[in-house]
Amino acid sequence: MKKWNIYITRKIPEPGLDLIRKECGGFRINPHNRVLKPTEIQKAVQGCDAILSLLTDKIDAAVMDSAGDKLKIIANHAVGFENIDLPEATRRKIMVTNTPGVLTKTTAELAWALLFSVARRVVDSDRYTRSGKFKGWDPLLFLGQDISGKTLGIVGAGRIGTEFALMSKGFNMRVLYNSRRPNESLEKELGAKKTDLETLWKESDFISLHVNLNSESFHLIREKELKMMKSSAILINTSRGSVIDEKALVKALKRNWIFGAGLDVYEKEPELVHGLTGCGNAVLTPHTGSASFQTRSKIALLAAENLVAGLNGQRPKNLLNPESFQ
Ligand code: GLV
Repeated sequence: MKKWNIYITRKIPEPGLDLIRKECGGFRINPHNRVLKPTEIQKAVQGCDAILSLLTDKIDAAVMDSAGDKLKIIANHAVGFENIDLPEATRRKIMVTNTPGVLTKTTAELAWALLFSVARRVVDSDRYTRSGKFKGWDPLLFLGQDISGKTLGIVGAGRIGTEFALMSKGFNMRVLYNSRRPNESLEKELGAKKTDLETLWKESDFISLHVNLNSESFHLIREKELKMMKSSAILINTSRGSVIDEKALVKALKRNWIFGAGLDVYEKEPELVHGLTGCGNAVLTPHTGSASFQTRSKIALLAAENLVAGLNGQRPKNLLNPESFQ
């Protein structure tokens, strides 16, 4: 077995580590239970053949320089890969992989969990109940929004957006979506209608974001868009924080321009924008869209399979830059 120099930037679930141990004889790994600083990553990857990175690691030209000429593959433990400078890796013929497919349902499920939590005020009610404030049934206590029969607006109808929309079947909803291409399965199975964004902001009761972060989707939702939404609308974001201008969102939540928001992702993770934690109409989760035991194991395994394939000269299943495969 050829001994490769592999660096893993943080502990991942065991199935991924196990595969690399079995197939490559071992690895080096970040010994701390925290994200490494850029200088720490640069130091750690020196002389590496492969890096298994997380979405919290910025893998840029400086890291690639540090790794040196032997670096063959960067296997990201995430479906999103905006943390990696892909054009730079491609220029250097370094393969880059991600982990699509295995986290689709789990992320869509968290988007629904957020939607329900905000609509029925689950988190606030829980705090109220456990703090001893519940003194008896009250006809006006914690009134929220119905879900069945309402209009669902999906922004980005790729894998996760499609799955999220299909999960609405039992709730008999009118589904609007916005995406580059028509989505046949949404149209056939739900009678969903492709619309422009303005219509979607104005007509949806629930808006869920499922776009990749790029120059087009950066701050897709600002004050102007929030003002177009219904005052009863709920905004859900499980994609990337920077799709929303968070300062504008805090303003909208404080002034009740919309009913509430469910957020799993933030512009400057793990920092939260000033004022957000004071918004009782927001439910906030710590980027746990794919965080189930089963799915995180699958992600780790898939990232490891991609890494092992790349080192062994095979084309990794989830290669993002085929030009780099030689
Ligand atoms: C999670 O956000 C991912 O990109 O996998």
